[in-house]
Amino acid sequence: MTLLINPHRFKDDFDALAQIGSTGDGGLNRPALSEAHLEARRWFLARAKEAGLETHVDGAGNHSAILQSPISNARTLLLGSHTDSVPDGGRFDGALGVVAALEVLRTVKDAGVTLPVHLEAIDFTDEEGTLVGVLGSQALAGQLTMAALKSPRGGRANLEEGMRRAGLSDEGFLNARRDPESLAGYLELHIEQGPRLVQSGIKIGVVTGIVGITSYRLTYHGQANHAGTTPMETRADASLGASTFLLTAREMVLRDYPNCVVNVGQMNFKPGAFNIIPGVAELALEFRSPEEAQLAELEKSLLGLADVIGRQFGLTLTAERAGGCDPAPMSPRAQAAIAAAAESLALSHTALHSGAGHDAQSLAALTEAGMIFIPSRDGISHSPLEFSEWEDCVNGANVLLRAALKIAGE
Ligand code: HGY
Ligand code: MN
Ligand code: MN
Repeated sequence: MTLLINPHRFKDDFDALAQIGSTGDGGLNRPALSEAHLEARRWFLARAKEAGLETHVDGAGNHSAILQSPISNARTLLLGSHTDSVPDGGRFDGALGVVAALEVLRTVKDAGVTLPVHLEAIDFTDEEGTLVGVLGSQALAGQLTMAALKSPRGGRANLEEGMRRAGLSDEGFLNARRDPESLAGYLELHIEQGPRLVQSGIKIGVVTGIVGITSYRLTYHGQANHAGTTPMETRADASLGASTFLLTAREMVLRDYPNCVVNVGQMNFKPGAFNIIPGVAELALEFRSPEEAQLAELEKSLLGLADVIGRQFGLTLTAERAGGCDPAPMSPRAQAAIAAAAESLALSHTALHSGAGHDAQSLAALTEAGMIFIPSRDGISHSPLEFSEWEDCVNGANVLLRAALKIAGE
């Protein structure tokens, strides 16, 4: 079958969605369940209805467009990603995959192709973790816990505010699990968010697996005091513990865990004045490994390091786990379908591991999941500079279409 998506309609949709929450410099500010994000989801449902597709919103706020198979009890092939963004992020991360999924359903519908599976384009809630992290996909996979909702990395108050805006509830999240028997698989198109494809000149990444991620809220407690009169050698300065940890953790990972990463994305000193020694230092710590056992070992090493550094500066440490997700292998069947789809389009492809987290890692626990990467200019993402060539976006959407048809037809 030589079906191809409609590149003009696809681009019109992509550009329209990129306007919602736009920061004006090519980037996006569309955090999960913010007004801008809810507007993007209304836009998605409206486009789906205009195309004559059914729509559905589940208890986790996951938004879907559905192209029913004539076989009523057919299983569902999910195609999707997320429309929420990081603060001041890029317009391709997540959004490309949702718009491409919608375009695949319209292309199949317009061609009058009937499939033995229902096709569902899905936009998952809070993939980015500004609230919880892969929230909607973990809910759909039945992996979400009340504990994760009660102490999310974005703060319970922010989560409750978003839930209020979107009309969601804890019960809705916890009951959004999809029966794995009802699914025929999951495919996601996504930008690589790294430099490998663009450096190699290869057009398509066939994702082999996705990294595991753990985040912690670390807090050093010292003693706030006068910045002018307190002798330097007697200070219990929380900022010293935080900054020493930051540098030492990076050195440790570079030396002992070369295939892992560590990041402190936020550091906050309190009370926070020029003339007060910080009594409290809060750090948003995140670390990643492709292997589950290594992720656990890295967690132990980093927490041990944080504790030793606290003692060194006469500080106490509190460490609160703020969420995470396991590493996940992608389905060999999905990988084969993606590679075959790329070859049918004469597109070069290579196997790649994902250093970014994705909804596909939640879905991998439920059904056969696969991911398609396209090149990111200069490998940049989570920034207004995030960019992919439109030709690469169209390639990715056509690979998504062909891989979906292959899986549907098997
Ligand atoms: O953080 C990540 O890896 C993904 O972009 N949410
Ligand atoms: Mn993403
Ligand atoms: Mn992201």
